[in-house]
Amino acid sequence: MTQVDVLLGLQWGDEGKGKIVDVLSPQYDLIARFQGGPNAGHTLEFDGKKFVLNTIPSGIFNEKTMNLIGNGVVIDPIILKRELDNLKKAGHDPVAAGKLVLARKAHLILPTHQLLDAANEQKMGAGKIGSTLKGIGPTYMDKTGRNGLRVGDTTLPDFAARYAKLVEKHKEILSHYEFEYDLTEKEAAFFEAIEFIKTIPHVDSEHFVNDYLKAGKKVLAEGAQGTLLDVDFGSYPFVTSSNTTTAGACTGLGIAPNKVGDVYGIFKAYCTRVGGGPFPTELDNEVGETLRQVGHEFGATTGRARRCGWIDLPALKYAIMLNGVTELIMMKADVLDGFDTIYACTHYEYNGETIDYMPYDIISIQPKPVLTAIEGWKTDMTKITSIDQIPSQLNAYIAFLEKELEVPIKFLSVGPDRTQTLTLR
Ligand code: GDP
Ligand code: IMO
Ligand code: MG
Repeated sequence: MTQVDVLLGLQWGDEGKGKIVDVLSPQYDLIARFQGGPNAGHTLEFDGKKFVLNTIPSGIFNEKTMNLIGNGVVIDPIILKRELDNLKKAGHDPVAAGKLVLARKAHLILPTHQLLDAANEQKMGAGKIGSTLKGIGPTYMDKTGRNGLRVGDTTLPDFAARYAKLVEKHKEILSHYEFEYDLTEKEAAFFEAIEFIKTIPHVDSEHFVNDYLKAGKKVLAEGAQGTLLDVDFGSYPFVTSSNTTTAGACTGLGIAPNKVGDVYGIFKAYCTRVGGGPFPTELDNEVGETLRQVGHEFGATTGRARRCGWIDLPALKYAIMLNGVTELIMMKADVLDGFDTIYACTHYEYNGETIDYMPYDIISIQPKPVLTAIEGWKTDMTKITSIDQIPSQLNAYIAFLEKELEVPIKFLSVGPDRTQTLTLR
């Protein structure tokens, strides 16, 4: 019997999960998304082409790999259909190839969930979360509130009536906001997309995944968002509405904790965040702007400018602990190529003390980062093809991080393309 390996982000999302899942997918029989929804934007680049996936697992471009959208995911049928239509135009049809299945128990995002998201954010004004406005929070609220509609419901004869009942409830809530909306077009698109997703096989993800394991096949769970956006352990309330951590892979697919194998924790050589909320190492200055421009730090889903800052080791240690990370993957080292000196936050100054952990309240009392200077490598890393060519300064940075984080760095990514990936260990 095999186990499920997990790959997830250790920061505030956009670490490069899509790229690495694509790189690793030839080693796996099944890639499974287990939480989140189309708030995710996972970018893959190969053969001069670029794809951004929102709901579809990043194993889709590997010929032999099956892809599952697990029960823990929230699915917007309109967005899923659009993603698949766009892939088809680009010559990839995973549905026709029988390479995509949906969990029956995955919840559906309705057009009114998006309206509720937008109405709520509008009301919060300056204190807003900075949601992607994909309806994620309201859909998970209906899931835990036991009102939601699931993929499996679409085949029931009374699906339209169930839909109408939930929409009625949403309209009642919306009437308490000053919020204008017109549902007509969205509703037509929704029902068209529902017919389409009925053509994709529906499975019980718990049996589907466990059958793969029993057959000795290899499974990789693909995280979305990042650990610091986890609804329990992230910078609440500036978080998403799911468990983005390893534990989320168990509930989001239906696997027991003892079925978890390797846990790949992925992080950028610096740090970014998109949306509101605390970010102790943020550089709201020219250095941050340089990171943004060189790293093309603009959201894959919303196009928003990402906030940029230095790497935050207390936050990474916290994420490693929560996830049981067994191997690290460092991304976007090339973005730091031009710096004479880079910095790493090793501790925080907080309430007059020096601490090396994330305190409960980082919203009303912002931790001040204590930074260590590290010599830059001033080398174009994007052209490097073997680990012998890694400059000594970058090797020193890697050794420093491994000592601090106490987990080996297995892969080093030096550019967006599939091929720009070095195996260190
Ligand atoms: P995800 O949400 O974790 O899959 O990450 P995103 O796709 O949102 O953001 C990562 C961005 O960085 C994408 O534009 C990738 O193409 C790009 N990228 C990934 N790895 C590297 C790298 O090593 N170097 C550079 N320069 N870009 C990278
Ligand atoms: P990937 O998978 C970065 C952020 C939003 C907002 C907060 C809540 O590409 O790493 P939501 O839409 O869930 O209501 O937004 O979470 N956020 C992400 N930030 N990458 C993501 O996904 C994100 N998904 C949500 O910006 O601050
Ligand atoms: Mg992303």
